[in-house]
Amino acid sequence: MQARRVKIICLHKCGANDNTQISHDPPVAGDHRLQHRAPAFGAVHATSRNAGYVNLREAGRVARLRTAASCVTTNARSMSDDAEQFEACLRLSESIPGWTRGDEARELLRLSSALPDGAILVEIGSFFGSGTVLLAGPRRLRGSGVVHCVDRFDGTGDAFSVPHYERIIKHAGGGALRDYFDTNLRNAGLAEWVQVHQGAADAIARRWASRIDLLFLDGDQSRAGAQLAYQAWAPFLKAGGILAVHNSAPDNYTPDHDGNRCLVEHEIRAPQYANIRLISSTTFAEKK
Ligand SMILES: C[S@@+](CC[C@H](N)C(=O)[O-])C[C@H]1O[C@@H](n2cnc3c(N)ncnc32)[C@H](O)[C@@H]1O
Repeated sequence: MQARRVKIICLHKCGANDNTQISHDPPVAGDHRLQHRAPAFGAVHATSRNAGYVNLREAGRVARLRTAASCVTTNARSMSDDAEQFEACLRLSESIPGWTRGDEARELLRLSSALPDGAILVEIGSFFGSGTVLLAGPRRLRGSGVVHCVDRFDGTGDAFSVPHYERIIKHAGGGALRDYFDTNLRNAGLAEWVQVHQGAADAIARRWASRIDLLFLDGDQSRAGAQLAYQAWAPFLKAGGILAVHNSAPDNYTPDHDGNRCLVEHEIRAPQYANIRLISSTTFAEKK
């Protein structure tokens, strides 16, 4: 495998980063920023009525993740096997409409894999399941853990994002977002590693009790919505647990689509968090 350079920026030391090319606004047809980011539809045929489903004819060869038993060895061969399996997860994720791509996606794979046995992961905002694959794939390889997916699955959210959700769902053939999510996870062989909590992020949190090993915030991108999700879910994060906040790079955001960026600026700092770093558009931090 080729070595890859991962851009890591310490937010609080370096401030704005003019090299950051990835805008996290949802992709817009004809938007020149698409040149700098992975396409939303990956390997899925844009013209297909089933465009939102994982195309297993294309992704299938990479989708067959091996069982944990065949992966848990420590020799060099198994390490390269793991790397191959990560790349398979990555390609599978890229074949599903979504926004978590490249180095930030690789970091989610790596972090999920590094969590202990029985790990509890929570993704706030799952959409078609592209990010879910990055979290659940490594847990399947490890043979334990659950990814809890919290989403209303009705295409609602902040005012800027909703038209883009609608466009993507329409482009995929219309119908229920939840059906696309379920089908994608089932086709990926990851359904049994995922538990869905359909509803608003703050409402689901009120019924939640477990300590969380990794919390991926990627739901409502407005300032109020991002704060609400963070305040509701961050208290469940274990000491030493990982917080990942998507769409939080210093960037020129559409007004009130900068909720996660503001959240990181105001809340994600020492001494509550350590090892704070930005990879692509996701801020990662470890809770102290
Ligand atoms: C940006 S998408 C998630 C993308 C996904 N994490 C990925 O990596 O592909 C945001 C999702 O969160 C959902 N959402 C927005 N606000 C929410 C809320 N308050 N509670 C639950 N889900 C919400 C949206 O409907 C949408 O499905």
